[in-house]
Amino acid sequence: MKSVPRSERFDDVYFSAEDGLAETLHVFLEGNSLTARWEDRDFRETFTIAETGFGTGLNFLAAWELWSRLRVQNNPRRLEFISVEKYPVNSGFIKDVLSGWQDEFGDLLMRFCDLYPVPKTGMHVIDAAEDVRLTLYIGDVAEVLPKIEARVDAWFLDGFKPASNPEMWTADVFAQMARLSHAGTSFATFTAAGEVRRGLQAAGFEVHKVQGFGRKRDMLSGVFTGGVAS
Ligand SMILES: C[S@@+](CC[C@H](N)C(=O)[O-])C[C@H]1O[C@@H](n2cnc3c(N)ncnc32)[C@H](O)[C@@H]1O
Repeated sequence: MKSVPRSERFDDVYFSAEDGLAETLHVFLEGNSLTARWEDRDFRETFTIAETGFGTGLNFLAAWELWSRLRVQNNPRRLEFISVEKYPVNSGFIKDVLSGWQDEFGDLLMRFCDLYPVPKTGMHVIDAAEDVRLTLYIGDVAEVLPKIEARVDAWFLDGFKPASNPEMWTADVFAQMARLSHAGTSFATFTAAGEVRRGLQAAGFEVHKVQGFGRKRDMLSGVFTGGVAS
């Protein structure tokens, strides 16, 4: 049985108690159609993912693993993964929590645990592989997002549930997402909360309610169209 970390502060789990990795694959990787987009090489030289809520790094590891599996030899393309975390965990905690997926992640797991920084406030640039860079900001999403300059191709919205952590799902956060997005930038999130759907629409995202993971009936995914919803 894999251990499932829980936040007392937000009264929520970091990922699904049923199967956290399967949830990540369904919600974030397939919610952003990453397999298809990466197989089709449907992007410029760098593919940039931005995430709200780094937590244990499970989403990052899963994206890195998929990227390295689909990578073509000598492919000049790069994966940039940007994430923001206000209440960082330490590497020992990550090792404990993610060790249940040793078979799925292989060497990447130990490499990630070794590279994970002492999580002090500020920016940490981690070259995980020749073609994979993690930029981890330790700070509040409201303060960090306005400072980021990037051309984001896919968003992972993984703050705790909006009812217990509304700060991660504000109009300002959605406006920052829009600033960093381009036509075709996708997003995916585990929640189907109405205020999140409406907030993303108002910021210029086309939003779809799609099948959620496990016992969660619905989740949201979509693309940035730049228009303001009527
Ligand atoms: C559901 S967990 C993320 C799980 C994570 N993606 C993983 O793979 O383990 C939500 C994360 O958001 C972080 N968080 C909560 N409020 C935040 C804020 N205002 N700014 C940045 N991060 C925040 C929490 O500390 C927590 O790690």
